[in-house]
Amino acid sequence: MVKSVVVKIGGSLIFTEKGDVNVDRISQYAQVLSTLKDDGMNLCVVVGGGKAARDFIKVLHKFNVPEAQSDMMGIRVSRINALLLIAALGKAAYPCPPREIPELAKALTTDKIIVMGGIQPGQSTNAVAAVVAEYTRSDMLINATSVDGVYTDDPKEDPNAKKIDELDYDDFQELVIKKGSRAGEYALFDLVALKIVSRSSILTKIINGSDPNNILRAAKGEKIGTTIHRR
Ligand SMILES: Nc1ncnc2c1ncn2[C@@H]1O[C@H](COP(=O)(O)OP(=O)(O)O)[C@@H](O)[C@H]1O
Ligand SMILES: [Mg+2]
Repeated sequence: MVKSVVVKIGGSLIFTEKGDVNVDRISQYAQVLSTLKDDGMNLCVVVGGGKAARDFIKVLHKFNVPEAQSDMMGIRVSRINALLLIAALGKAAYPCPPREIPELAKALTTDKIIVMGGIQPGQSTNAVAAVVAEYTRSDMLINATSVDGVYTDDPKEDPNAKKIDELDYDDFQELVIKKGSRAGEYALFDLVALKIVSRSSILTKIINGSDPNNILRAAKGEKIGTTIHRR
């Protein structure tokens, strides 16, 4: 089993369809993460902004604020989401989400599970997860999201899109580059995230996180979701 993993949990996964906080699922994430930690794995977790962030950002877009200001709203919401998981993890978690890399560095001197949200405007929390994976020399970045992998096109828009089991960074970039990069509209992965995983050849797995046990499966090296790596 790998020794150090960064897990990105999509904001979409911590809310129900109705928009309530998915308390059961957050508890399950806490359980799965504690199991991995007890097995000796070093863990950093990055939580996304999800529906709450998108709702707030929609309002800011109406007020015509600069994009960076909208991003900051998303970042703050993602940190609040991170606090939910920190609460569920109890003593196993570092008590506050690091807001920048020096704060992460400090948190890494403890033996706690570190949970954080966004860092700075212009990038998604996927980019944060990529930077954290790079900074911690992690063996793997697990991206738990609402789809079971990377498809030839957005499966929500194209019912004929096909799932891809494995691809390299360049092919992944081709797919990602088509998507938008406004606050609240970062789709599956953004270019900043891609550049980081590519330059440091970080093994990246996109998995369906609606079943929290999929995180365990991915960390144990099971073939699941889509694997992005250097060919
Ligand atoms: N090529 C693609 N393959 C898979 N999903 C895609 C692709 N392009 C866009 N998506 C969309 O990305 C979404 C996941 O991103 P997002 O909704 O931001 O989730 P998260 O909460 O994990 O950040 C999926 O629901 C899917 O509709
Ligand atoms: Mg997203």
